[in-house]
Amino acid sequence: MKKILVTGGTGYIGSHTVVEAQQAGYEVVIVDNLCNSQVGVIERIQQITGIRPAFEQVDCTDMAAMEEVFKKHPQIGAVIHFAAFKAVGESVQKPLQYYHNNLRSLWVLLTLLPKYEVGNLVFSSSCTVYGQPDHLPVTEQTPRKPAESPYGNTKQICEDIITDAVRAGIPVQGILLRYFNPIGSHPSAKIGELPIGTPQNLVPFVTQTAAGIRPQLRIFGNDYNTPDGSCIRDYINVVDLAKAHIVAVDRMLKKQCKKPVEVFNLGTGKGVSVLEIVRTFERATGVKLPYEIVERRAGDIEQIWADTTFANTELGWQAHETLEDTLSSAWKWQQTLQ
Ligand code: NAD
Ligand code: WQD
Repeated sequence: MKKILVTGGTGYIGSHTVVEAQQAGYEVVIVDNLCNSQVGVIERIQQITGIRPAFEQVDCTDMAAMEEVFKKHPQIGAVIHFAAFKAVGESVQKPLQYYHNNLRSLWVLLTLLPKYEVGNLVFSSSCTVYGQPDHLPVTEQTPRKPAESPYGNTKQICEDIITDAVRAGIPVQGILLRYFNPIGSHPSAKIGELPIGTPQNLVPFVTQTAAGIRPQLRIFGNDYNTPDGSCIRDYINVVDLAKAHIVAVDRMLKKQCKKPVEVFNLGTGKGVSVLEIVRTFERATGVKLPYEIVERRAGDIEQIWADTTFANTELGWQAHETLEDTLSSAWKWQQTLQ
């Protein structure tokens, strides 16, 4: 069965994954309610791949509507579940919306998958589940820390819901993918990240500053216990990240999984500081980036990067794109938005 259902498939990571899935020969059905994306993405995907994915504008928390999707599109081999609210700060302001959207959408899927004989689920998790780890880099065995936000808590709870449901015997294979910091855009610059309002994440803020939309980047703290004092993250190219989902689906369909629920870190394995992002962006694009150092951002962790050994050896996946090329792709995308 080479048909997959992708929830949140018009979103940032979802759209890149749909492109990779189609290019790998999968037939794709997208379910998205467009609460954080635009329908025009479907056309853009078609421009890249030459294939128009099926699209259902449906809210994943709506059980009856989701049931219609499974009836209309039989023989789905796997679901990749991206659909969720993802803004950490907003989740603190609107916890009930976050718990409702992120938990109920998963609950609906886990209820319907056995009924429609869909045996495979890939879930978008996050390095946020590790908090500030005691040892770096983090492996999949690194203990999770209590969540720092309702958003982070939804990711931990969703991981637990999948694990408990599979342990209780629902006939579903699970793969939990813990993304580090996804950045960049498709090299065609036809799809990319579309932040609404002021970007909260670093790279969209960098590209908007370079474009003159923001007067300057504010770097949150240079007094951390890191080589240059700014925070360290593991920035992963979104196309590399998208490809990992195809490897995960292939693995499930070929029945190569070794445990009923598998967990993989998806990062580069390299820690990069905020100041290094600024310097690399300037070098890669030739654009000077005005910035100021301001106070630390509440809730930020000092440093984290992935141990990717398990993803490299067991999944057979690794990140390839350089940081220069990734930041160039983000800049190329930004320039199409003006
Ligand atoms: P995104 O907001 O661009 O994409 C999510 C998509 O889901 C959007 O198109 C939105 O319209 C849709 N959606 C949300 N709720 C829905 C619902 N109830 N029904 C139908 N559609 C719904 O976000 P993204 O960056 O592509 O993130 C995708 C997934 O990856 C999310 O689960 C997110 O938590 C996770 N993740 C993202 C990052 C990151 O930094 N971008 C890091 C780790 C994990
Ligand atoms: C990166 C670094 C900031 C903006 C978030 C979520 C996490 C995951 C990924 C979903 C930090 C610094 C940022 C700015 C800055 N998402 N920064 N100036 O915080 O690592 O992770 O996205 O699961 O859950 O928390 O990403 O891009 O916001 O920040 O100096 O204007 O850039 O302090 O060190 P973060 P980010």
